[in-house]
Amino acid sequence: MASAMTQQHRGRAILQLASVLLLASPAAMLAAAGACESATFPAGKSYTTCADLSALGATLHWTYDAADSSLSLAFTAKPAATGGWVAWGINPTGDGMKGAQTLVAFKQTGAYVVNTYNLTGYRPLGAASTPIAYEATELAADDGADGTVRLYGKLQLPKGMVTVNHIWQVGSAVASDAPAKHAFGQENLDAKGSLSLIGADAPEAAPAPVAGAPLSGESGDMETQAALSPAPSGGKPSPSPSAAFTAYASSPVLVVLLALAGFLAIV
Ligand SMILES: *[C@@H]1O[C@H](CO)[C@@H](O)[C@H](O)[C@H]1NC(C)=O
Repeated sequence: MASAMTQQHRGRAILQLASVLLLASPAAMLAAAGACESATFPAGKSYTTCADLSALGATLHWTYDAADSSLSLAFTAKPAATGGWVAWGINPTGDGMKGAQTLVAFKQTGAYVVNTYNLTGYRPLGAASTPIAYEATELAADDGADGTVRLYGKLQLPKGMVTVNHIWQVGSAVASDAPAKHAFGQENLDAKGSLSLIGADAPEAAPAPVAGAPLSGESGDMETQAALSPAPSGGKPSPSPSAAFTAYASSPVLVVLLALAGFLAIV
């Protein structure tokens, strides 16, 4: 009898916990998913979609024009130290740094520049842009709130390229007018993911890397300068607003709690 009472109490407590979680989680997820929405941009810069990226406190705002497969974007992040740099890029051949087509914002002689870099390995970046696979226009950067740097650009993507592997990074210093090597903390390593440019209707997975492209096991020297996204393995998909809701809906904890609550309600 006593154990039956205990069972009932426990059942009720779990039911209450489950309903609290049910009520609280959507609100929490909405707040989390909406954090990037509070960002403001100068006149003339507005974007249809934004995402809070999964590492380094970065956000990405973008407008993808399917008609001409152009991507207008604003990437925001706080450099690792004042006078550092921020970077965002697409990797069409893998999920790490090598092969990434990147935009890097930093100051040269006091003024922001946005350089393009075709990352060919863990090598130092120079002071000058290198050609990337996508035509890059409207490149600019400025200071946002709370020490963030906002990087703007427009990329002309291949037709149909609507899900991409993207990487992002922050560094603490600019040396000889070039971005210096970033730190290799967990967040630096985690700063990559798969991004659907067209939102909820996009396929979940990024396109398969082209055959023979380096995916992992870089033999490059990790100690050389200016690696952008060091670990080409184990990236988490970056949360897009729709991904956040998917994550909520499929939360294993909730599923278990609901199943348990249902079971206890029956017995
Ligand atoms: C980027 O670098 C790779 C490796 O050197 C090269 O194969 C590729 O053609 C380069 N891309 C552009 C756009 O120059």
